[in-house]
Amino acid sequence: GEPMLLRRHLVLIGPMASGKSTLGSQFANRHGLAFADSDKRLVERHGPIPAIFTSLGEHAFRELEAREVAALLAEGKPPAVVSLGGGAILDTGTQQLLANCTVVFLDIDVDTVRPRIIKDTGRPLLAGDPVGRWTESLRQRRPVYERLADLVLDTRGKSQQQLLAELKNLL
Ligand code: S3P
Repeated sequence: GEPMLLRRHLVLIGPMASGKSTLGSQFANRHGLAFADSDKRLVERHGPIPAIFTSLGEHAFRELEAREVAALLAEGKPPAVVSLGGGAILDTGTQQLLANCTVVFLDIDVDTVRPRIIKDTGRPLLAGDPVGRWTESLRQRRPVYERLADLVLDTRGKSQQQLLAELKNLL
């Protein structure tokens, strides 16, 4: 792909398993951009996500997550492609930082994510009833994703090549 320059961070938001990390890293690679991922940074610094939930709980996880997101989006950093964990947008400080970013909501439906989440053990919020909990989580968060998004990428039924091209064309 052609090299590209960003004026602001390009931030991918959306529900669990919507493909934020995959698309973000591929897009960055293709266009010669830096890439960062909030879950990855969190795990590097604080250990596996299920362990954080077990030992500290969701509230503490959100605080750690907000801190890592703030570090990734810090003012003065060269603009990068940044993928956020699905719940990172719940933090009001993060919401404020996103006002200065180009925010893309990766929309997706339960049929498309089902095969990705049914055997998932890495997402504590899906434990026990992945499909039911994923659906309820998106029902609650959809208004937040929509409010924060500058652009919406409907990922349903699209190949990875199509998604890469559509994201480029959206910008
Ligand atoms: C979460 C999403 C996960 C991870 C954690 C909590 C959420 O990231 O941050 O399990 O609250 O939606 P993905 O969006 O990559 O699944």
